[in-house]
Amino acid sequence: MGKKVIIDCDPGIDDALALLIAFASEELEVLGITAVAGNVSSDLTARNALALCALAGKNIEVAVGASGPLSGKPCNASDVHGSNGLGNVDLPLTGSVSSRSADEMLFEELIRHNGELELIAMGPLTNIALLIKNHPDVLLLVKKLTIMGGSLGRGNVTRYAEFNFYADPLAADIVLRSGIPIEMYGLDVTNHALLFAEQIDEIEGWGGLVLTQTVAMIRYYQAFYRSKGLDGLKMHDPLAVAGVIDPEITKRTPHALGVETRDPETLGRVLVLNDVEPEAPRNVDVCLEVDQDAFSRLFMGLMKSYR
Ligand code: BDR
Ligand code: CA
Repeated sequence: MGKKVIIDCDPGIDDALALLIAFASEELEVLGITAVAGNVSSDLTARNALALCALAGKNIEVAVGASGPLSGKPCNASDVHGSNGLGNVDLPLTGSVSSRSADEMLFEELIRHNGELELIAMGPLTNIALLIKNHPDVLLLVKKLTIMGGSLGRGNVTRYAEFNFYADPLAADIVLRSGIPIEMYGLDVTNHALLFAEQIDEIEGWGGLVLTQTVAMIRYYQAFYRSKGLDGLKMHDPLAVAGVIDPEITKRTPHALGVETRDPETLGRVLVLNDVEPEAPRNVDVCLEVDQDAFSRLFMGLMKSYR
């Protein structure tokens, strides 16, 4: 059996691709999914997660989480992912969401797996921050938290902030400063993890129901990037999952980090605390380099299993 993980996400087309490779990988055992408001509302992200499980033939518990940020104005990315979050592809739904809330699922499963459970967070960090606030006693049981979010360089919502951190800066600050062992995949690397136009055509050529629906979502996301002058996709969330599957595809450096929560201009910006707060723990391994070829091989290999 692979690493035991719960995936916290806001599907989202790149979340969808990340979930599909997580389901296909023998290195991971996905024990549950918690949905959070982000790209679209939490009702829709939970629905999408369930529909993606059904598409991939997986029976995985999906719990609904926070419907908005801990503080500040809610925002979404339906301009990038479509009004339903999946490029307006209408995936059929089977099953229903869990009777447990995201908070209950995270708390109970961390206790049940007693230090063996990893978390992967690919949306705003609201659910994880609530876990930290509501159950500080279970933090030591988080084996590792892998995050897609933030940037040490430029943002993608504002000059300073990446979407997941911008959507809930307070949550991101609480999580980064929590002391939990974190691996952070920010725009510094995810902007360089691409799915090229010819690879999309190749996946389309493989056929089959799962990949036909997947390519329909991808084409929507591709149109967004084409409008920005890129003939391919930025694989933000899939890179975070790929990094858990194979840690060799990225290089990481430990940092002490926080997030700007007050200044309206730089809200959501990552703050490097290494020298400013020398006693702050360097608990965040920031990925700053990715092996694009190794990432492509891993992604394409896992997608091929859906033919
Ligand atoms: C992040 O923002 C979302 O739109 C994507 O799903 C990804 O998690 C990239 O900034
Ligand atoms: Ca996401």
